[in-house]
Amino acid sequence: MSLVSSGKKLKSASVPVDEKGMQYHLMVKPGDVSRYVLLPGDPGRVLRIAKYWDEKWKVAEHREYLTYSGKYKGVFISATSTGIGAPSTAIAVEELARVGSDTFIRVGTTGALRRGIGVGDLIISTGAVRLEGTSKQYVIPEYPAVADLTVTLALVAAAEELGVKYHLGLTASSDSFYVGQERPGFRGYLPPFQKGLVSFLKSVNVLNFEMEAATIFTLANIYGLRAGSVCAAIANRETEEFIVDAGVEDAVRVANEAVKILSEWDELMEKAGKKAVTPGIIAEWWKKRG
Ligand code: URA
Repeated sequence: MSLVSSGKKLKSASVPVDEKGMQYHLMVKPGDVSRYVLLPGDPGRVLRIAKYWDEKWKVAEHREYLTYSGKYKGVFISATSTGIGAPSTAIAVEELARVGSDTFIRVGTTGALRRGIGVGDLIISTGAVRLEGTSKQYVIPEYPAVADLTVTLALVAAAEELGVKYHLGLTASSDSFYVGQERPGFRGYLPPFQKGLVSFLKSVNVLNFEMEAATIFTLANIYGLRAGSVCAAIANRETEEFIVDAGVEDAVRVANEAVKILSEWDELMEKAGKKAVTPGIIAEWWKKRG
């Protein structure tokens, strides 16, 4: 019987888990998921990710959260959908961390803010402007939402290896797809304080708009976990192009391959006693790969 339909009494109101450590929202427990978890927003994308795996099995499905685990090129890997936006994403990171995951890669879609970023290109984030509200309930606004160096380099290495076009830089994460990203709301509503947001963000070298990276980066940094993000630009706010699903398959392939690379780097880092990938480790890895 599922946890949800069981009417079961959980540990406490503050710690909503069952006796096996099964988490209230995601319905995952220790052992169910890998240390490496890919985080698409869309539950449908979990299956698109898992179709590249050698083996896969469904772990749990509850609300917007669908979790699969499996093996990609021999590496234990998981994927959990976060739903759209910061609050549900924070829940996913919280509960995955509690069952042992420590490395997260957002696999998303995004709107590019610069003419030079083609629809279908990928954007790998080095950090995110915290325009959402959830991370502010965790920590002061001055706290940076930065991506993990090793995870980000693994995403770059995967994109290079697969020959996929990518851009590297800052992302802005908002809590609103329409008005919060300076798109007209219903009947053209746009408050004065949102006008000029796209051009301001462009002027400070932000590449793209999406809705989850800042939350994932902030929570990962607070908890000493690792996070990165790769998004497919399905829209360009300069050229006004929007192509549904453009580049998503590439983002999925890059994220899966980044996990394989990370697992190899992690092994070498552990042997060398390093906390992040170093030029020496990359050189050794490259030699081993042939
Ligand atoms: N996701 C967003 O948040 N914004 C876009 O423009 C496209 C995808």
